[in-house]
Amino acid sequence: MEHAGLHPHPILIVGGGRGIGAAIAREWPEQSTVWTRSHAVDASDPEAVQSAFAAYHARHGAPFALVHCVGDFAERPLLGTDLGTFRHLFTSNVDTVFHTLQAVVPAMVQARRGRVVLFAAAGVDKDRGMLRAPVYFAAKAAVVQLARSLALEVAPAGLTVNVIAPGLIHHPHSHQESQTRMLPRVPQGRLGEVADVVGAVRYLLSDAASYVTGQVLTVDGGLQA
Ligand SMILES: NC(=O)c1ccc[n+]([C@@H]2O[C@H](COP(=O)([O-])OP(=O)(O)OC[C@H]3O[C@@H](n4cnc5c(N)ncnc54)[C@H](OP(=O)(O)O)[C@@H]3O)[C@@H](O)[C@H]2O)c1
Repeated sequence: MEHAGLHPHPILIVGGGRGIGAAIAREWPEQSTVWTRSHAVDASDPEAVQSAFAAYHARHGAPFALVHCVGDFAERPLLGTDLGTFRHLFTSNVDTVFHTLQAVVPAMVQARRGRVVLFAAAGVDKDRGMLRAPVYFAAKAAVVQLARSLALEVAPAGLTVNVIAPGLIHHPHSHQESQTRMLPRVPQGRLGEVADVVGAVRYLLSDAASYVTGQVLTVDGGLQA
């Protein structure tokens, strides 16, 4: 389906196998290519990402949009986080972004157009601590900072780079115990749906957002985390 204002160009969705990423892929089924480990691309492996992008580029050229949705969550206090979990959270949330950007964005710069959308989490762009999942939120804060810097780096080539920061988004694989516990902190009184996030992606990929870059778009119903 093609929407008014969205360029009919390819969209590459890293982590689009389920949850939010799968909903984005369903929105643009003809244009979307999905990478996940189940689709044989492990975004934590830089060589795998480079070689997957070489094959993608030979077929589609540079994508119009790069959407990165990978990002595991763990709700543990800082002093209760073991080294393996710490490393995994940074690998899943930050390394996969870095490898993907390095593999894909140079071709978008060469094409002199495109949109990059990364995923953080509601509240990480605020100047305060996070009691609930400190290592996850630290990794997401790194994603925001990478996006803000990349936005400046690639603006002259006509690319935008923005971040969506979801609150509690319900889907079959979301962290439902944690979301149910946090629900009273959502002034709108409901969990978010994947459609709420897809709407934000649709905006960032539209002509209406061509002058919006380096921003964090929070989709959380007013969550007081
Ligand atoms: N859901 C929420 O309430 C919520 C709230 C705040 C922020 N977020 C953020 O929003 C984004 C999407 O969340 P979600 O809940 O839709 O995530 P999800 O259900 O965990 O789905 C993540 C997707 O990424 C893929 N993936 C995981 N590791 C990968 C890797 N190393 N290489 C390639 N693909 C990989 C998974 O497929 P495979 O397992 O097959 O690889 C899956 O398709 C994440 O960044 C998350 O941190 C979500």
